[in-house]
Amino acid sequence: MTPENWSPNSWRALPAVQAPPYDNEGAVREATATLAELPPLVTSWEIERLKALLGEAQEGKRFVLQGGDCAETVADCRSDAIASKLKILLQMSLVLVHGLRRPVVRIGRFAGQYAKPRSKAFETRNIDGREVTLPSYFGDLVNRAGFTEEDRRPNPMNLVAGYQHAALTLNFVRALVDGGFADLHHPEQWDLAFTREAALSTELRAEYERMSQNLSDGMHLMEALGEARIEELTRVEFFTSHEGLNLAYESALTREVPRRPGHYNLSTHMPWIGERTRAVDGAHLEFFRGLRNPIGVKLGPTATADDVEQLIATLNPDDEPGRLTFITRMGAGKVAGELPRLIEAVGSRRVLWVCDPMHGNTHSTKSGIKTRSFDAILEDLERTQDVHSSAGTWLGGVHFELTGEDVTECVGGAAGLSEEELAGNYVSPCDPRLNYQQSLELAFLLARRMRKNP
Ligand code: PEP
Ligand code: CO
Repeated sequence: MTPENWSPNSWRALPAVQAPPYDNEGAVREATATLAELPPLVTSWEIERLKALLGEAQEGKRFVLQGGDCAETVADCRSDAIASKLKILLQMSLVLVHGLRRPVVRIGRFAGQYAKPRSKAFETRNIDGREVTLPSYFGDLVNRAGFTEEDRRPNPMNLVAGYQHAALTLNFVRALVDGGFADLHHPEQWDLAFTREAALSTELRAEYERMSQNLSDGMHLMEALGEARIEELTRVEFFTSHEGLNLAYESALTREVPRRPGHYNLSTHMPWIGERTRAVDGAHLEFFRGLRNPIGVKLGPTATADDVEQLIATLNPDDEPGRLTFITRMGAGKVAGELPRLIEAVGSRRVLWVCDPMHGNTHSTKSGIKTRSFDAILEDLERTQDVHSSAGTWLGGVHFELTGEDVTECVGGAAGLSEEELAGNYVSPCDPRLNYQQSLELAFLLARRMRKNP
């Protein structure tokens, strides 16, 4: 089960891009030795369960909703932020279940999404007329987002703090999932203000109202069937995922377990490899190939058919169901030109196709604020779905950067958030996220479209 010449540390012999610039390797070793003694965050049976569900999604029987912050922060490990993130994901998933007539697998980008790849190792800002250059922010697992020398110094103890906050987050998520969500099954109590925006066409407004009415009716009908039945029908399962970027952290939490062959990365259910770290001869691929987890790989517009070939050969040589998810992030304008050849390269082998409509659609405003437009995100999704439809493949999921809070980071949506309004509540230390209303609106639009063209 463990591939030849592989161990949780075999990646160390290979070039690791995006490795944090630590200045004290001894302290990194101490931190990872501490992590290696701590209990796992998830279990191998949960991981196998998710892999089985993803296998069904590959066959078109389920749909995946994956979402959360671009960069989770330790400061955001608060009950309201966690509960609202869970709430928006659950509400979106119910809208999608309704539209797609299929069960939805819910996967958070949370409880460990603390490591960020950066295009530049250093950042320069003008502070009081003086140019100041400091290391970039690499996520809370490495340093902090504030722009001081102390904040930006990579601190190995953040590896342990990241683990602890992932554990606190997951503990609360598990408690909420076990008991606190009954009220969310009542769409009439959701904040559906966006459906009443004057900017929407009368037709679309009527359709939203119809959909939320149908959702409510469906839930009430299920409830009328009796307690046990609604429990069964709306049982909520959440899984976790994050980018497996910091291999010192990931390998310290990769273990063998009793009575199951192979190694599991027990820091999360589904780690993924980012666009910048998927080199076929790099350290990340080497590490991921030996894991038993289901894994994702981001594919941007520069991915080639040969990359796809080698990724499959390295990561899923046995064509195991549920094992490999390709998360495509092309950008609205590039989907039609770049996606078909990747689909062709995969051929009849098993992968789950998920669309990340966020990372190919980031731009800066004239005043230098990083944003994304709701329309570009929707267009990316629609074009991706069109390409899959004509290729005869199933778009089995979506991957969003979102929050349940009322932030102003992406422009557009029914409420018409403008560039001028971005400064109002821009909180993300990294990429711009959809806010509550934009997220729910996208779920409605996607459900409506997928219902029409399944
Ligand atoms: C991300 O998911 O935040 C990210 C960095 O994506 P990508 O690897 O696709 O650029
Ligand atoms: Co991002």
